Amino acid sequence: MSSVIGNWVAGERVISDATFEVRHPYDGSAVATTCYATDADVERAVAAADAVRKEFATTPAHVRAAALDHVTRRLEERAEEIAQLITAENGKPISWARGEVARAVSTFRWGAEEARRFSGDLQRLDTDPGGTGRMALVRRVPRGPVLGISPFNFPLNLVAHKVAPALAVGAPIVLKPAPKTPLSALLLGEILAETELPAGSWSVLTTSNDKAAELVADPRLPVVSFTGSGPIGWGIRDAAPRKHVTLELGGNAAVVVDQTWTDLDSAADRIATFAMYQAGQSCISVQRVYVHRDSYDELAARVVKAVESQVTGDPKDPATKVGPMINEDAAARLEAWVGEAVDAGAEVLTGGSREGATFAPTVLAGVPEDAKVSCEEVFGPLLVLAPVDSVDEAFEKVNASRYGLQAGVFTRDLQLAFRAAAELEVGGVIIGDVPSFRADQMPYGGVKESGVGREGVHAAMLDLTQEHVTVLTGITV
Ligand code: SIN
Repeated sequence: MSSVIGNWVAGERVISDATFEVRHPYDGSAVATTCYATDADVERAVAAADAVRKEFATTPAHVRAAALDHVTRRLEERAEEIAQLITAENGKPISWARGEVARAVSTFRWGAEEARRFSGDLQRLDTDPGGTGRMALVRRVPRGPVLGISPFNFPLNLVAHKVAPALAVGAPIVLKPAPKTPLSALLLGEILAETELPAGSWSVLTTSNDKAAELVADPRLPVVSFTGSGPIGWGIRDAAPRKHVTLELGGNAAVVVDQTWTDLDSAADRIATFAMYQAGQSCISVQRVYVHRDSYDELAARVVKAVESQVTGDPKDPATKVGPMINEDAAARLEAWVGEAVDAGAEVLTGGSREGATFAPTVLAGVPEDAKVSCEEVFGPLLVLAPVDSVDEAFEKVNASRYGLQAGVFTRDLQLAFRAAAELEVGGVIIGDVPSFRADQMPYGGVKESGVGREGVHAAMLDLTQEHVTVLTGITV
């Protein structure tokens, strides 16, 4: 048996000669050898998705739901093996990897449940004389085969967010996982191959970025669902203006700590944990923290202490909370950004150093607002603390960003909570916690440069489908 892990082309495992090694971000050890899909593999996968489009759209809900149930069960059964794989290919500490598998189980479980529920409406048309004796059956039908492009930071659950809703609505999907972390997606392919889903309804292809551009342009894939960086995401939208494109992009998520929140220990603990989790490589990790000047020193001391207590090191060790970034280039980029902020007057309260791909959990203060660590997406283990004189000023600063994914507001004031929901320019406001909270069934996505469209299983199912009307004539309503 070959030791090369192949792609999944229309449900079949296919190995090509274009092999490459996936290496552990922490110690550079080889994790596995896999391969890029060939042009012929890509063509076969896309042609099969196109060919099965009609059949899959009319596959009974119980068949699709049973397949999603099967994936849910198998992910649970293989949870520890998959968590170890996520840690090996991504470098995320094992405790976070276990959490990611549990979330993917939930994402597929929701897919199965929603597949059974997803129906339509009856709309009466006899509200005007011209509609007498008529009724409309309004259903949602798939827009067509989906190109799903997923990132490295959640190599299983952000794949699940592409695959589960597509299968739930009966839309074939060609998934392109991040080439840095393809193994979890390819393992998911093993599980999908155990189901009765029709050939062509799913493929998992690791391809180069050049090939991805061809897939984006291919008219047989009218829907593109992309999670990743802003420049690539917006480039896809510009390159395919006639397609239905959903973009889940980055952010520089902010937290506001209001004066009614007196338990500064709990706020500091959540802020430190969710600025540093997965080495900050989450689009909603805490990056900017705004706190009233009167509480600033107290909160800053607690945040620094909580950050310094995060155990860093080998992600395989269950005690480790912060592991490496995805590679040395990413950590070097962050090092340069910290250097730029310090040159502009920022103070390093803790951290700031790098060893290979590992960047020490870092807290900065006195950061100019135009420094990259404040106004760009850091995607690393770093947070910026800033005092404010009022909630108004805090909200202004949260909104003075090109991005708008989620924001967190620590407050016990119900009216302020509603004000935050109304005024903060983001896709989601988390009251009483950090912006990093995400439940996989809730709508998730951004405004401004953080993207367009929503994920979260039901929201994605709406996004992948469009309304279709059948008018019945000559009936008694
Ligand atoms: C992301 O990085 O956008 C995903 C965050 C999450 O699913 O928790």
